[in-house]
Amino acid sequence: MNTKPIYLDYNATTPMDPRVTKAMIAYLKENFGNPSSSHYYGKITKDAVSKARIAVAELIGAGQDEIIFTSGGSESNNMAIKGIAFANKDKGRAYRQAGNHIITSSIEHPSIINPCGYLEKFGFKTTYLPVDKFGLVSPKDVKKALTKETLLVTIMHANNEVGTIEPIAEIGEIVKKEGLYFHSDAAQSVGKIPTLVNELRVDLLTIAAHKFYGPKGVGALYIRQGTKIDPLIHGASHEAGKRAGTENIAAVVGLAEAARIAPNEMGEDSKRIQRLRDKLYAEIKNMAEVKLNGATDNRLPNTLNISFKNINGAELLAKLKGIAASTGSACHEKESKVSGVLQAMGVKQDYAQGSIRFSLGKYTTEEDINNALGQIAEALLDKLFK
Ligand SMILES: Cc1ncc(COP(=O)(O)O)c(C=O)c1O
Repeated sequence: MNTKPIYLDYNATTPMDPRVTKAMIAYLKENFGNPSSSHYYGKITKDAVSKARIAVAELIGAGQDEIIFTSGGSESNNMAIKGIAFANKDKGRAYRQAGNHIITSSIEHPSIINPCGYLEKFGFKTTYLPVDKFGLVSPKDVKKALTKETLLVTIMHANNEVGTIEPIAEIGEIVKKEGLYFHSDAAQSVGKIPTLVNELRVDLLTIAAHKFYGPKGVGALYIRQGTKIDPLIHGASHEAGKRAGTENIAAVVGLAEAARIAPNEMGEDSKRIQRLRDKLYAEIKNMAEVKLNGATDNRLPNTLNISFKNINGAELLAKLKGIAASTGSACHEKESKVSGVLQAMGVKQDYAQGSIRFSLGKYTTEEDINNALGQIAEALLDKLFK
């Protein structure tokens, strides 16, 4: 093939916006100082980090002292969960005796599920809440799951596989009434839809730069003032003593540039992207028996996860050589394992194995979608009639 496949995997990662790349260059070249140094070179990068902190804080309606830079979504999630757990274990809040119980959902990213599992070795207990057929967590279920021991509730803002947007503000209200800590993994929502910490009522929020046209390997954790949290990485006093290590300046500058661009452009971009996504779905529906996975309305504007009945998603995707998308079912050697998210949503086996996630972004064009549709039609004909 001469041309590159059409990129429809923006939930996996996004290309960097050229303005982001441009902003980073000086910090990969002449602006090399260590921001902890008090001389000329250090001051330049220290100033860049301060400005970056303000930009990221503004994107989510936080204060600049409430942002710490991390290596990305996974680290932010790990820090939120383990940091809160270890700092507050058995101390609880003023009116609680102990705190060793965490509530999360059954459709979280592994960087939430696995830290919870790890904490179970240290005496913590986790409740994994179910979701409905749209992938929605019920605020009522959160309320029911609260115990005297509950310390932290962590529910993702938007799901990476199906795009369902969770009722975070409603859940936040319940959690905050109880005086508990509330974290949300917003790796998939920040930069795609408005994500404001006070509206969502969260104490902690995870941000990943590479999901909204920033660089990989950098992210942030919002930590509401007054939150008692242990560091994940111990060392010197970087990031207000919460995350040791010389900052990745160029990456932090890139994250900040992406954070400056997003609020001005995501509204218009989303409208266009959603129109293309809906066109893709409408036309695929005319070609095959498919089922939409995820919420109809409360869904990221770029995400289309569909299941083809009695067709293996991985096999179909393998035929779509000119499209880079992802399948909901991970293929391990000969066995095709159905995605845990789709399982939790109760998607039946004959559909679950046939799931494909198309995730669009700001560089997706109408031509890309027309071309992708042509390829899908061809692959389906091949699949159905051979
Ligand atoms: C919902 C969600 N959380 C966390 C992460 C992890 O982010 P990172 O790749 O920056 O560690 C991802 C990335 O796939 C994600 O989709």
